[in-house]
Amino acid sequence: MKLLRLIPLFILPVLGKKKMPPLITLEEHYLSRDTPDAMKGLFKEQVQFVPGVMDKLEDLSCLRIADMDKGEVTLQVVSHAAGLGSYPVNYSRAANDQVYEAVKNSKGRLAGFATAPMSYPADAAAEFRRAVSKLGFVGALVDNHDGNGGYFDGEEYDAFWAVAEEFDVPVYLHPTWPSEDMAPRFEGNFDPIASNSLGSSGWGWHADTGLHVLRLFASGLFDRRPKLKIIAGHMGEMIPFMLQRIGKISARWSTAQRNFTTVYRENIWITTSGVWSLDPMRCILANTPIDHILYSVDYPFTSNEVGLAWMKELHRSGLVTQEECEAIAYKNAEKLLRVKANGTRVQ
Ligand SMILES: *[C@@H]1O[C@H](CO)[C@@H](O)[C@H](O)[C@H]1NC(C)=O
Ligand SMILES: *[C@@H]1O[C@H](CO)[C@@H](O)[C@H](O)[C@H]1NC(C)=O
Ligand SMILES: *[C@@H]1O[C@H](CO)[C@@H](O)[C@H](O)[C@H]1NC(C)=O
Repeated sequence: MKLLRLIPLFILPVLGKKKMPPLITLEEHYLSRDTPDAMKGLFKEQVQFVPGVMDKLEDLSCLRIADMDKGEVTLQVVSHAAGLGSYPVNYSRAANDQVYEAVKNSKGRLAGFATAPMSYPADAAAEFRRAVSKLGFVGALVDNHDGNGGYFDGEEYDAFWAVAEEFDVPVYLHPTWPSEDMAPRFEGNFDPIASNSLGSSGWGWHADTGLHVLRLFASGLFDRRPKLKIIAGHMGEMIPFMLQRIGKISARWSTAQRNFTTVYRENIWITTSGVWSLDPMRCILANTPIDHILYSVDYPFTSNEVGLAWMKELHRSGLVTQEECEAIAYKNAEKLLRVKANGTRVQ
Protein backbone atom coordinates (compact mmCIF):
# COMPACT_ATOMS: atom_id res chain seq x y z
CA MET A 1 0.00 0.00 0.00
CA LYS A 2 2.67 2.42 1.05
CA LEU A 3 4.68 1.72 -2.06
CA LEU A 4 1.64 2.26 -4.34
CA ARG A 5 0.98 5.61 -2.79
CA LEU A 6 4.57 6.62 -3.37
CA ILE A 7 4.55 5.86 -7.07
CA PRO A 8 2.52 8.91 -8.19
CA LEU A 9 4.73 11.16 -6.10
CA PHE A 10 7.72 9.69 -7.84
CA ILE A 11 6.26 10.01 -11.34
CA LEU A 12 4.91 13.54 -11.02
CA PRO A 13 8.22 15.40 -11.06
CA VAL A 14 9.40 13.33 -14.03
CA LEU A 15 6.34 14.25 -16.10
CA GLY A 16 6.56 17.81 -14.90
CA LYS A 17 10.07 18.14 -16.29
CA LYS A 18 9.35 16.14 -19.41
CA LYS A 19 9.58 18.31 -22.49
CA MET A 20 6.23 19.20 -23.92
CA PRO A 21 5.52 18.40 -27.56
CA PRO A 22 5.82 21.37 -29.95
CA LEU A 23 2.91 23.78 -29.52
CA ILE A 24 0.87 25.46 -32.27
CA THR A 25 -1.48 28.25 -31.22
CA LEU A 26 -4.42 29.62 -33.24
CA GLU A 27 -6.11 32.52 -31.47
CA GLU A 28 -3.22 34.93 -31.15
CA HIS A 29 -3.84 38.56 -31.84
CA TYR A 30 -2.14 41.71 -33.05
CA LEU A 31 -3.27 45.22 -33.90
CA SER A 32 -2.47 46.60 -37.32
CA ARG A 33 -0.51 49.85 -37.33
CA ASP A 34 -3.49 51.33 -39.22
CA THR A 35 -6.04 50.40 -36.55
CA PRO A 36 -8.37 53.38 -36.00
CA ASP A 37 -7.97 54.99 -32.56
CA ALA A 38 -11.68 54.49 -31.86
CA MET A 39 -11.13 50.76 -32.18
CA LYS A 40 -8.08 50.75 -29.93
CA GLY A 41 -10.26 52.39 -27.28
CA LEU A 42 -12.31 49.20 -27.06
CA PHE A 43 -9.36 47.55 -25.31
CA LYS A 44 -9.33 49.90 -22.32
CA GLU A 45 -10.23 47.13 -19.87
CA GLN A 46 -7.41 44.90 -21.14
CA VAL A 47 -4.98 47.81 -21.04
CA GLN A 48 -5.87 48.29 -17.38
CA PHE A 49 -5.58 44.64 -16.34
CA VAL A 50 -3.03 43.00 -18.67
CA PRO A 51 0.47 44.48 -18.30
CA GLY A 52 2.07 45.60 -21.56
CA VAL A 53 -0.82 44.40 -23.68
CA MET A 54 -0.69 47.25 -26.24
CA ASP A 55 3.03 46.79 -26.92
CA LYS A 56 2.48 43.09 -27.42
CA LEU A 57 -0.54 43.61 -29.68
CA GLU A 58 1.38 46.00 -31.89
CA ASP A 59 4.46 43.80 -32.24
CA LEU A 60 4.82 41.18 -34.95
CA SER A 61 8.51 40.39 -34.53
CA CYS A 62 11.02 40.26 -31.64
CA LEU A 63 8.72 40.73 -28.66
CA ARG A 64 6.18 38.25 -30.01
CA ILE A 65 8.79 35.61 -30.85
CA ALA A 66 10.48 36.03 -27.44
CA ASP A 67 7.09 35.51 -25.76
CA MET A 68 6.51 32.42 -27.92
CA ASP A 69 9.86 31.03 -26.77
CA LYS A 70 8.88 31.58 -23.13
CA GLY A 71 5.76 29.49 -23.67
CA GLU A 72 7.46 26.93 -25.96
CA VAL A 73 5.14 27.86 -28.84
CA THR A 74 6.82 26.77 -32.06
CA LEU A 75 4.24 28.13 -34.51
CA GLN A 76 1.77 30.93 -33.86
CA VAL A 77 -1.12 31.64 -36.23
CA VAL A 78 -1.57 35.39 -36.02
CA SER A 79 -4.94 37.12 -36.39
CA HIS A 80 -6.25 40.64 -35.91
CA ALA A 81 -7.90 41.58 -32.61
CA ALA A 82 -11.68 41.99 -32.58
CA GLY A 83 -13.39 45.02 -34.09
CA LEU A 84 -11.76 45.63 -37.48
CA GLY A 85 -14.52 43.82 -39.38
CA SER A 86 -16.77 46.87 -39.02
CA TYR A 87 -14.38 49.06 -41.01
CA PRO A 88 -14.16 49.20 -44.83
CA VAL A 89 -12.06 46.68 -46.70
CA ASN A 90 -8.95 48.87 -47.04
CA TYR A 91 -8.35 48.41 -43.30
CA SER A 92 -8.48 44.62 -43.58
CA ARG A 93 -6.22 44.70 -46.63
CA ALA A 94 -3.61 46.79 -44.84
CA ALA A 95 -3.78 44.50 -41.80
CA ASN A 96 -3.46 41.31 -43.86
CA ASP A 97 -0.55 42.74 -45.84
CA GLN A 98 1.20 43.49 -42.57
CA VAL A 99 0.80 39.89 -41.38
CA TYR A 100 1.98 38.61 -44.75
CA GLU A 101 5.26 40.53 -44.27
CA ALA A 102 5.62 39.36 -40.68
CA VAL A 103 5.07 35.72 -41.65
CA LYS A 104 7.63 36.03 -44.44
CA ASN A 105 10.23 37.43 -42.02
CA SER A 106 9.51 35.03 -39.17
CA LYS A 107 11.67 32.07 -40.30
CA GLY A 108 8.72 29.75 -40.02
CA ARG A 109 7.50 30.84 -36.59
CA LEU A 110 4.31 32.61 -37.71
CA ALA A 111 1.38 31.84 -40.01
CA GLY A 112 -1.66 34.01 -40.75
CA PHE A 113 -5.43 33.95 -40.39
CA ALA A 114 -7.07 36.58 -42.59
CA THR A 115 -9.14 39.37 -41.15
CA ALA A 116 -12.14 40.42 -43.25
CA PRO A 117 -14.64 43.33 -43.31
CA MET A 118 -17.70 41.32 -42.29
CA SER A 119 -19.92 44.43 -42.36
CA TYR A 120 -19.36 44.39 -46.14
CA PRO A 121 -20.07 40.78 -47.17
CA ALA A 122 -18.93 40.96 -50.81
CA ASP A 123 -15.69 42.70 -49.83
CA ALA A 124 -15.17 40.18 -47.02
CA ALA A 125 -15.39 37.29 -49.49
CA ALA A 126 -12.97 38.99 -51.90
CA GLU A 127 -10.44 39.80 -49.18
CA PHE A 128 -10.65 36.28 -47.72
CA ARG A 129 -9.99 34.90 -51.21
CA ARG A 130 -7.03 37.22 -51.75
CA ALA A 131 -5.50 36.37 -48.38
CA VAL A 132 -5.72 32.62 -48.93
CA SER A 133 -4.87 32.47 -52.64
CA LYS A 134 -2.30 35.26 -52.88
CA LEU A 135 -0.86 35.66 -49.38
CA GLY A 136 -0.79 32.02 -48.30
CA PHE A 137 -3.01 32.47 -45.22
CA VAL A 138 -4.23 29.27 -43.58
CA GLY A 139 -7.81 30.40 -42.90
CA ALA A 140 -9.72 33.38 -41.55
CA LEU A 141 -10.52 34.65 -38.08
CA VAL A 142 -13.42 37.07 -38.15
CA ASP A 143 -15.54 39.11 -35.76
CA ASN A 144 -18.59 37.17 -34.68
CA HIS A 145 -21.07 39.72 -36.07
CA ASP A 146 -21.10 42.81 -38.26
CA GLY A 147 -21.16 46.38 -36.93
CA ASN A 148 -24.95 46.27 -36.49
CA GLY A 149 -25.03 42.93 -34.68
CA GLY A 150 -25.93 41.02 -37.88
CA TYR A 151 -24.82 37.38 -38.24
CA PHE A 152 -23.55 35.47 -41.26
CA ASP A 153 -26.37 33.00 -41.91
CA GLY A 154 -27.85 35.00 -44.81
CA GLU A 155 -27.41 34.64 -48.56
CA GLU A 156 -25.13 37.67 -48.73
CA TYR A 157 -22.43 35.67 -46.91
CA ASP A 158 -22.56 32.66 -49.17
CA ALA A 159 -19.62 33.87 -51.27
CA PHE A 160 -17.59 34.18 -48.07
CA TRP A 161 -18.33 30.61 -46.95
CA ALA A 162 -17.66 29.42 -50.49
CA VAL A 163 -14.03 30.56 -50.18
CA ALA A 164 -13.55 28.46 -47.05
CA GLU A 165 -14.91 25.37 -48.77
CA GLU A 166 -13.10 25.95 -52.07
CA PHE A 167 -9.70 26.30 -50.41
CA ASP A 168 -10.48 23.88 -47.58
CA VAL A 169 -9.47 26.35 -44.87
CA PRO A 170 -11.22 26.94 -41.55
CA VAL A 171 -13.06 30.04 -40.37
CA TYR A 172 -12.51 30.94 -36.74
CA LEU A 173 -15.55 32.75 -35.32
CA HIS A 174 -14.10 35.15 -32.83
CA PRO A 175 -16.12 37.01 -30.18
CA THR A 176 -16.53 40.74 -30.61
CA TRP A 177 -18.07 43.56 -28.59
CA PRO A 178 -21.84 43.94 -28.46
CA SER A 179 -23.17 46.29 -31.14
CA GLU A 180 -25.03 49.42 -30.03
CA ASP A 181 -28.41 47.72 -29.92
CA MET A 182 -27.02 44.65 -28.11
CA ALA A 183 -25.23 46.62 -25.38
CA PRO A 184 -28.20 47.68 -23.19
CA ARG A 185 -29.07 44.11 -22.25
CA PHE A 186 -25.77 43.95 -20.33
CA GLU A 187 -26.47 47.13 -18.39
CA GLY A 188 -28.07 47.10 -14.97
CA ASN A 189 -27.79 48.14 -11.37
CA PHE A 190 -24.02 47.95 -11.43
CA ASP A 191 -20.88 49.68 -12.61
CA PRO A 192 -20.37 50.25 -16.37
CA ILE A 193 -17.13 48.26 -16.04
CA ALA A 194 -19.24 45.27 -15.01
CA SER A 195 -21.60 45.88 -17.96
CA ASN A 196 -18.68 46.01 -20.34
CA SER A 197 -17.33 42.74 -18.96
CA LEU A 198 -20.70 40.95 -18.93
CA GLY A 199 -21.18 41.89 -22.56
CA SER A 200 -17.72 40.74 -23.58
CA SER A 201 -15.09 38.40 -22.13
CA GLY A 202 -16.93 37.97 -18.82
CA TRP A 203 -19.82 36.11 -20.52
CA GLY A 204 -21.79 37.77 -23.34
CA TRP A 205 -19.58 37.52 -26.38
CA HIS A 206 -18.92 33.84 -25.70
CA ALA A 207 -22.64 33.01 -25.50
CA ASP A 208 -23.16 35.10 -28.63
CA THR A 209 -20.54 33.13 -30.57
CA GLY A 210 -22.09 29.84 -29.47
CA LEU A 211 -25.46 31.18 -30.64
CA HIS A 212 -23.94 32.07 -34.01
CA VAL A 213 -22.82 28.48 -34.58
CA LEU A 214 -26.40 27.35 -33.86
CA ARG A 215 -27.78 29.99 -36.22
CA LEU A 216 -25.50 28.76 -39.01
CA PHE A 217 -26.82 25.25 -38.37
CA ALA A 218 -30.46 26.42 -38.29
CA SER A 219 -30.02 28.25 -41.61
CA GLY A 220 -28.99 25.04 -43.36
CA LEU A 221 -25.47 26.31 -44.06
CA PHE A 222 -23.91 22.92 -43.28
CA ASP A 223 -26.17 21.26 -45.86
CA ARG A 224 -25.19 23.81 -48.49
CA ARG A 225 -21.51 23.67 -47.50
CA PRO A 226 -21.02 20.22 -45.95
CA LYS A 227 -17.23 20.51 -45.88
CA LEU A 228 -17.15 23.79 -43.97
CA LYS A 229 -14.73 23.91 -41.03
CA ILE A 230 -15.64 26.28 -38.21
CA ILE A 231 -13.41 26.90 -35.19
CA ALA A 232 -14.86 28.09 -31.89
CA GLY A 233 -12.41 29.19 -29.21
CA HIS A 234 -12.64 29.33 -25.41
CA MET A 235 -13.39 25.63 -25.03
CA GLY A 236 -16.12 25.72 -27.68
CA GLU A 237 -17.99 28.89 -26.62
CA MET A 238 -20.27 26.98 -24.23
CA ILE A 239 -21.56 24.51 -26.84
CA PRO A 240 -19.94 21.35 -25.39
CA PHE A 241 -21.71 21.90 -22.07
CA MET A 242 -25.11 22.23 -23.77
CA LEU A 243 -24.50 19.63 -26.47
CA GLN A 244 -26.94 17.00 -25.27
CA ARG A 245 -29.75 19.53 -24.88
CA ILE A 246 -29.05 21.27 -28.20
CA GLY A 247 -29.06 17.89 -29.96
CA LYS A 248 -32.34 16.84 -28.41
CA ILE A 249 -34.25 20.08 -28.80
CA SER A 250 -33.00 21.10 -32.26
CA ALA A 251 -34.39 17.79 -33.55
CA ARG A 252 -37.87 19.35 -33.07
CA TRP A 253 -37.31 21.96 -35.75
CA SER A 254 -34.25 21.12 -37.76
CA THR A 255 -34.71 19.89 -41.31
CA ALA A 256 -30.94 19.56 -41.83
CA GLN A 257 -29.64 16.41 -43.49
CA ARG A 258 -27.28 15.87 -40.57
CA ASN A 259 -28.43 16.63 -37.02
CA PHE A 260 -26.56 19.05 -34.81
CA THR A 261 -24.68 16.33 -32.95
CA THR A 262 -23.27 15.08 -36.26
CA VAL A 263 -22.47 18.57 -37.55
CA TYR A 264 -20.70 19.28 -34.26
CA ARG A 265 -18.53 16.18 -34.70
CA GLU A 266 -17.79 16.80 -38.37
CA ASN A 267 -17.71 20.56 -38.95
CA ILE A 268 -16.75 22.20 -35.65
CA TRP A 269 -13.28 22.41 -34.10
CA ILE A 270 -12.68 23.94 -30.69
CA THR A 271 -9.66 25.49 -28.99
CA THR A 272 -8.60 25.93 -25.39
CA SER A 273 -7.87 29.66 -25.79
CA GLY A 274 -7.85 31.59 -22.54
CA VAL A 275 -9.68 29.02 -20.39
CA TRP A 276 -7.28 27.39 -17.99
CA SER A 277 -9.22 24.78 -16.08
CA LEU A 278 -9.43 21.01 -16.36
CA ASP A 279 -13.16 21.07 -15.47
CA PRO A 280 -14.45 22.05 -18.93
CA MET A 281 -11.80 19.80 -20.48
CA ARG A 282 -13.32 16.75 -18.77
CA CYS A 283 -16.63 17.47 -20.50
CA ILE A 284 -15.01 18.18 -23.86
CA LEU A 285 -12.90 15.03 -23.81
CA ALA A 286 -16.10 13.08 -23.21
CA ASN A 287 -18.21 14.55 -26.04
CA THR A 288 -15.87 16.06 -28.65
CA PRO A 289 -13.74 14.09 -31.12
CA ILE A 290 -10.15 14.20 -29.91
CA ASP A 291 -8.91 15.32 -33.33
CA HIS A 292 -11.14 18.43 -33.15
CA ILE A 293 -9.60 19.77 -29.92
CA LEU A 294 -6.75 22.26 -30.39
CA TYR A 295 -4.45 24.05 -28.02
CA SER A 296 -4.48 27.86 -28.26
CA VAL A 297 -3.56 30.69 -25.90
CA ASP A 298 -5.35 33.99 -26.76
CA TYR A 299 -2.07 35.92 -26.65
CA PRO A 300 -1.48 38.58 -25.50
CA PHE A 301 -4.65 38.72 -23.40
CA THR A 302 -3.28 35.71 -21.58
CA SER A 303 0.38 34.68 -21.58
CA ASN A 304 1.99 31.75 -23.36
CA GLU A 305 3.54 30.67 -20.04
CA VAL A 306 0.13 30.32 -18.40
CA GLY A 307 -0.99 28.21 -21.35
CA LEU A 308 2.10 26.04 -21.13
CA ALA A 309 1.61 25.48 -17.39
CA TRP A 310 -1.96 24.36 -18.09
CA MET A 311 -0.85 21.97 -20.85
CA LYS A 312 1.59 20.45 -18.38
CA GLU A 313 -1.21 20.13 -15.86
CA LEU A 314 -3.38 18.42 -18.46
CA HIS A 315 -0.51 16.11 -19.33
CA ARG A 316 0.04 15.15 -15.70
CA SER A 317 -3.66 14.82 -14.95
CA GLY A 318 -4.05 11.44 -16.62
CA LEU A 319 -7.06 12.77 -18.59
CA VAL A 320 -5.19 12.33 -21.88
CA THR A 321 -2.64 9.84 -23.16
CA GLN A 322 0.71 11.01 -24.54
CA GLU A 323 -0.69 10.58 -28.04
CA GLU A 324 -3.83 12.61 -27.25
CA CYS A 325 -1.71 15.32 -25.65
CA GLU A 326 0.37 15.58 -28.84
CA ALA A 327 -2.78 15.73 -30.96
CA ILE A 328 -4.11 18.66 -28.93
CA ALA A 329 -0.70 20.36 -28.75
CA TYR A 330 0.09 20.42 -32.48
CA LYS A 331 -0.87 17.40 -34.58
CA ASN A 332 -4.52 18.37 -35.02
CA ALA A 333 -3.50 21.87 -36.04
CA GLU A 334 -0.93 20.50 -38.49
CA LYS A 335 -3.65 18.48 -40.14
CA LEU A 336 -6.38 21.14 -40.10
CA LEU A 337 -4.15 23.97 -41.38
CA ARG A 338 -1.69 21.92 -43.47
CA VAL A 339 1.28 23.38 -41.61
CA LYS A 340 4.13 21.83 -39.69
CA ALA A 341 4.86 22.77 -36.11
CA ASN A 342 8.26 23.97 -37.34
CA GLY A 343 6.57 26.30 -39.85
CA THR A 344 6.91 24.28 -43.06
CA ARG A 345 3.86 24.69 -45.34
CA VAL A 346 2.45 21.46 -46.74
CA GLN A 347 1.08 21.94 -50.24
C1 LIG B 1 -9.27 53.62 -45.73
O1 LIG B 1 -9.98 54.53 -46.53
C2 LIG B 1 -10.48 55.67 -45.81
C3 LIG B 1 -11.37 56.47 -46.76
O2 LIG B 1 -10.70 56.71 -47.97
C4 LIG B 1 -9.29 56.47 -45.29
O3 LIG B 1 -9.73 57.58 -44.54
C5 LIG B 1 -8.46 55.56 -44.39
O4 LIG B 1 -7.29 56.23 -43.95
C6 LIG B 1 -8.05 54.28 -45.12
N1 LIG B 1 -7.38 53.40 -44.19
C7 LIG B 1 -6.37 52.60 -44.53
C8 LIG B 1 -5.79 51.77 -43.46
O5 LIG B 1 -5.94 52.55 -45.65
C1 LIG C 1 -27.84 12.30 -34.82
O1 LIG C 1 -27.60 11.50 -35.94
C2 LIG C 1 -26.79 10.38 -35.67
C3 LIG C 1 -26.42 9.72 -37.00
O2 LIG C 1 -27.55 9.56 -37.79
C4 LIG C 1 -27.54 9.46 -34.72
O3 LIG C 1 -26.75 8.32 -34.42
C5 LIG C 1 -27.80 10.23 -33.43
O4 LIG C 1 -28.57 9.46 -32.55
C6 LIG C 1 -28.55 11.53 -33.70
N1 LIG C 1 -28.53 12.33 -32.48
C7 LIG C 1 -29.59 12.99 -32.04
C8 LIG C 1 -29.42 13.71 -30.76
O5 LIG C 1 -30.65 13.00 -32.63
C1 LIG D 1 10.03 20.60 -40.57
O1 LIG D 1 9.39 19.34 -40.54
C2 LIG D 1 9.26 18.73 -41.81
C3 LIG D 1 8.44 17.48 -41.66
O2 LIG D 1 8.67 16.83 -40.45
C4 LIG D 1 10.65 18.46 -42.37
O3 LIG D 1 10.54 17.87 -43.65
C5 LIG D 1 11.38 19.79 -42.49
O4 LIG D 1 12.71 19.58 -42.92
C6 LIG D 1 11.42 20.53 -41.15
N1 LIG D 1 11.95 21.87 -41.37
C7 LIG D 1 12.76 22.47 -40.51
C8 LIG D 1 13.14 23.87 -40.89
O5 LIG D 1 13.16 21.94 -39.51
